[in-house]
Amino acid sequence: MKTFLSGIQPSGLLHLGNYFGAIRQHVASLEEPGEHFYFIADYHSLTTCRDPQALRDQVRETAVSYLAMGLDPERAILFRQSDVPEVTEISWLLSCVTGMGLLERAHSYKDKTARGIKPNVGLFTYPVLMAADILAYDSDIVPVGKDQVQHVEMTQDMAGYFNAAYGEGCFKRPEYRLAGEERFAKVPGLDGEKMSKSYGNDLWMFESGKPLKKAVGRIPTDSRPPEEPKDPAGLLLFDFLELFLEPTELEDWKQRVRTGGEGAPGYGHLKVRLIEAIEDHFAAGRAAREEWLAHPERIEAVLKSGAEKARSRARAVRDRCLAACGLR
Ligand code: ADP
Ligand code: TRP
Repeated sequence: MKTFLSGIQPSGLLHLGNYFGAIRQHVASLEEPGEHFYFIADYHSLTTCRDPQALRDQVRETAVSYLAMGLDPERAILFRQSDVPEVTEISWLLSCVTGMGLLERAHSYKDKTARGIKPNVGLFTYPVLMAADILAYDSDIVPVGKDQVQHVEMTQDMAGYFNAAYGEGCFKRPEYRLAGEERFAKVPGLDGEKMSKSYGNDLWMFESGKPLKKAVGRIPTDSRPPEEPKDPAGLLLFDFLELFLEPTELEDWKQRVRTGGEGAPGYGHLKVRLIEAIEDHFAAGRAAREEWLAHPERIEAVLKSGAEKARSRARAVRDRCLAACGLR
């Protein structure tokens, strides 16, 4: 039986990139037979967040987003990373076999420091903790967004270093899995760059009504009139429509834009269609979110039960690896 595992940092309101690049894929994996572990990476958030109340709120928001979008707690184990402290022990074991050079090559670390974030040791060793998350559950498949692939490859390396030192049976080698479709791998932001909280170009997945209208209004267009034939490939609006519309409807809009003339839609029309599509896509999730938020004790119960199951697996892996390196 395969073990699927992935996680997401609780960085507040989740945006369309987080949904299409991560959550959607995680929920879809439940259709495959196997065990499914999904967690909220709150230890990881401490590398950048120092506001205890904000962190608590963000953990809850992330859990609710998962549940509202269909992560069925009957089929998946949903838990908080920090409820399984064994991962920090495993992280230490891995850090003692991992060279500095491997971590110095991490893109995420290089990107963050290039953006002026003053690095702490936790930010530097972030990939070691992430490797521990993956290896603690003997995971086989790790569904992730493109930007996390290098971290899973580093996990493979770290498992290899440990096994070379202490025996091949210690850690299981995981594989990453990307969302099959390219359009979901890198969702653009409202300005056309990659959507990211840190670029301020993100759109909350449950946004609706006026704020949604306002956000979609920000997507840049140009001053060409509707009648002028245009190549849809050059229009950012179509990158968004592609996330939501059925292929036949999408092709129809594209064709009308290519042809131009009397019946061609203007940018305003396309924006109205996009707003409607976003509202529809997340309507059930928005309602489910409200329902969960009205019952915080249910959220807590899901996380607690998830933690118990996750912890018993992580303990076994930790014990196996401590014994292998002479600490038992
Ligand atoms: P952010 O860049 O907003 O801080 P994170 O780095 O916390 O987002 O990403 C959380 C998850 O969402 C990761 O699995 C990442 O691959 C996915 N993700 C983030 N932004 C995008 C995007 N624009 N397109 C596709 N996936 C994304
Ligand atoms: N680094 C991931 C992110 O930023 C979160 C994460 C932490 C994770 N540990 C993991 C993802 C283990 C997959 C597996 O979203």
